[in-house]
Amino acid sequence: MSSDVFRVKRAPRLETEIIVPGDKSISHRAIMLAALSNGVCKITNFLEGEDCLSTAKAFQQLGVTIERPEPGFVVVHGSHGQLIAPEQDIDCGNSGTTMRLLSGILAAQPFTSRLIGDASLSKRPMRRIIEPLNQMGASITALGANDSPPLVIRGAPLHGITYNMPIASAQVKSAILLAGLHASGVTTVIEPAPSRDHTERMLEYFLVNLRREETRPDRNRKSHECRVSMLGQQQIESRDFAVPGDISSAAFWLVAAACQPGSRLLVKNVGLNPTRTGILDVLVRMGARVREVVESIEEGEPCGVIDIKGGRLTGTVIEGNEVPNVIDEIPVLAVAGALADGRTIIRDAKELRVKETDRIAAIASNLRVMGVEVHEAEDGMTIYGGSRLNGATLRSYGDHRIAMAFAIAGLFASGSTIIEDAECVRTSYPQFESILTHLQRGDSTFRHPTPVISSLVGKRRSFRSFKK
Ligand code: S3P
Repeated sequence: MSSDVFRVKRAPRLETEIIVPGDKSISHRAIMLAALSNGVCKITNFLEGEDCLSTAKAFQQLGVTIERPEPGFVVVHGSHGQLIAPEQDIDCGNSGTTMRLLSGILAAQPFTSRLIGDASLSKRPMRRIIEPLNQMGASITALGANDSPPLVIRGAPLHGITYNMPIASAQVKSAILLAGLHASGVTTVIEPAPSRDHTERMLEYFLVNLRREETRPDRNRKSHECRVSMLGQQQIESRDFAVPGDISSAAFWLVAAACQPGSRLLVKNVGLNPTRTGILDVLVRMGARVREVVESIEEGEPCGVIDIKGGRLTGTVIEGNEVPNVIDEIPVLAVAGALADGRTIIRDAKELRVKETDRIAAIASNLRVMGVEVHEAEDGMTIYGGSRLNGATLRSYGDHRIAMAFAIAGLFASGSTIIEDAECVRTSYPQFESILTHLQRGDSTFRHPTPVISSLVGKRRSFRSFKK
């Protein structure tokens, strides 16, 4: 379990292999789709982080039987789409995914429910889901300032709409699609750029018919529209599902390896959905050597191995349509930028201001405390990298990804680095601290100090050799 404070020291170079826990976005959706299905679904490698447990508890309150025969293995008894009115408020904790996706599901249920969250979630914007769901016929009211939670959801019979999303957001897209599942007629969502597509892939895996179209990205990758359409009132067929490892959790170790010449890391059983692998492209541009191998795609989600070799990195630009693909990795990519030579520019990322904390402000402030020059903009920042990081006492701002990103910075800093309020990492990666401790000791708990490259050979796969 994670402690309240992380104490981090400079670490030796990394030469190891790891597995990371189940993907957070996919674990949420696995519970949700299984809970709405017409039978029993066994879910393996489910992420037992606090966010996904909030989703599981919410469905238990809504009358769904969920068993946990062993850690990471949950058995969900589907409700055939018919949930039961909750007796109390549903507490979504810190989890925006729980609140926004669940709103889409509850919008079509014939009862009223109230969703609450912790202090951070209670400040996050909900108008983005309220507007389309109310257009579909629901009646959702936000009780907080500026359309923030608590949310009161009065479910109603819904009708499909065509919705042009003002921002690329997988949570908004998913809320509308999950509402559309129980609506009359066709629901169409048009995104200005591709966001993660787990809901679409998983709906298809659970035998729901969808139509997906994309315009070709233009030359500057600025316009790349995605459209998903679905006929409502389809049945979700119960199926078993294995959750791949979370590339957003792997991101911390990928950056730790990428920034250290001589390091080499193999991450196994990790999700390689192309709407999530932007971090690999960024690290390759910065000078890391990366190869990824898709080993399976049976359940709709590509899963496989990442092999990364570190080096002296140089700064890069992260902007435009790439941003939704790396949105959760920007805190740790900013740390990579600070360690790289030259400037790293992040723009078009205003969404970072409304995550678990204002991540632009949090990253800039912590980097400055470590001695890095950072220029903050409304939609991003410029990081002047290449100078030594000073160990320091840093705030997590109650945000798991800020805590973990700066723990990685601490592995490269002089002296010791302390991350305060680090217990927030339990939301997505309860085992983070124990891996960090092993890395700092330089011991290999991972049994194979030398990457087992043989696992990259001889499998059915798409193969991208070392890109550089
Ligand atoms: C998520 C979507 C993203 C991401 C979040 C998880 C999801 O949020 O930042 O951590 O599971 O759909 P937005 O949809 O707000 O971009």
